[in-house]
Amino acid sequence: MEAKLMHALRYESYGGGVDGLKNVEVRIPTPVKDEVLLKLEAATINPVDWKIQKGMLRPLLPRRFPYIPCTDVAGEVLEVGPAVNNLKVGDKVVAMLSHFEGGGLAEYAVAKQSLTVQRPSEVSAAEGAALPVAGLTALKALTESAEVKLDGSGKQKNILITAASGGVGHYAVQLAKLGNTHVTATCGARNIEFVKSLGADEVLDYKTPDGASLKSPSGRKYDAVIHCTTDIPWKTFEPNLNENGKVIDITPGPSAIITSIVKKFTFSKKQLLPLLLIPKGENLDYLVKLVKEGKIKTIIDSKHPLCQARDAWGKSIGGHATGKIIVEP
Ligand SMILES: NC(=O)c1ccc[n+]([C@@H]2O[C@H](COP(=O)([O-])OP(=O)(O)OC[C@H]3O[C@@H](n4cnc5c(N)ncnc54)[C@H](OP(=O)(O)O)[C@@H]3O)[C@@H](O)[C@H]2O)c1
Repeated sequence: MEAKLMHALRYESYGGGVDGLKNVEVRIPTPVKDEVLLKLEAATINPVDWKIQKGMLRPLLPRRFPYIPCTDVAGEVLEVGPAVNNLKVGDKVVAMLSHFEGGGLAEYAVAKQSLTVQRPSEVSAAEGAALPVAGLTALKALTESAEVKLDGSGKQKNILITAASGGVGHYAVQLAKLGNTHVTATCGARNIEFVKSLGADEVLDYKTPDGASLKSPSGRKYDAVIHCTTDIPWKTFEPNLNENGKVIDITPGPSAIITSIVKKFTFSKKQLLPLLLIPKGENLDYLVKLVKEGKIKTIIDSKHPLCQARDAWGKSIGGHATGKIIVEP
């Protein structure tokens, strides 16, 4: 029998950027065991997707070439594997695929049921697909690392969020404001009003001396920094932290790792905590419900058809998205 084909974008080796991504026709994957086959309606690009292509996570990722990148998707369940018990054909869902296998820049993809959650009609495919990596990272940083309670209970915390206009940052501001927090944020001048509209109490332009110093305009010291950009040294954070303040670094480079070890083993009250996302289906479900209830929203930077996903890839590599970049099959 002739195999059914789908349109996808994939690369065959490390490097190459936008030019390394090729439009291809490949077999539609088959779900096994606890997997579901999805007809995709939207996918998003995260910086980790092109970092994998650059070889920054070799030899772990990708598991093999050729590789169809992207993990965060929304779509409709077309087929279920024999061990699937909580999803059925026709369900509209949001899913996070495995970084080992990828598969998001395609018309169809297989997802594990454990990281596939229902998408109610109030949440569009694009709003849902944007959530997994960016939303789950913001949620973990705030609730687990910074210990903010999103029901608003607990003593008020002063939080700094860097790159608050980006994918992770824009969710982090909104989630932080569900808790009892005062939020200081950094972003570029063009996004100051946007970041205020997400709920930030004060916003610094990162290209000004005040922004570069990270000093709170109201003189607050931070209990936690959700650090969503790169290249800010510990010595810039340190004077702005409360006695027990923490920097949660979601892109820790070698110097951040060394600082975090030194702070831990010298029993420093001020800590630097590297964060690695370990996704949980229940947290993804929670985020989708927050979008449904209008408690947080996905801001969409731009939408690109799958056949022009290379433009979306280039945009993400450029590093100037406001919110999330979406690809639609
Ligand atoms: N640890 C994990 O598991 C994990 C998970 C998710 C993401 N990450 C990492 O977290 C980082 C952020 O991801 P993302 O998806 O939020 O990125 P993104 O959406 O590409 O971020 C783009 C935004 O960052 C802003 N920005 C750039 N440099 C800035 C600076 N120095 N100060 C303030 N804002 C700045 C840009 O504003 P302008 O356009 O005005 O410059 C733009 O709006 C990436 O390095 C990513 O790999 C890690």
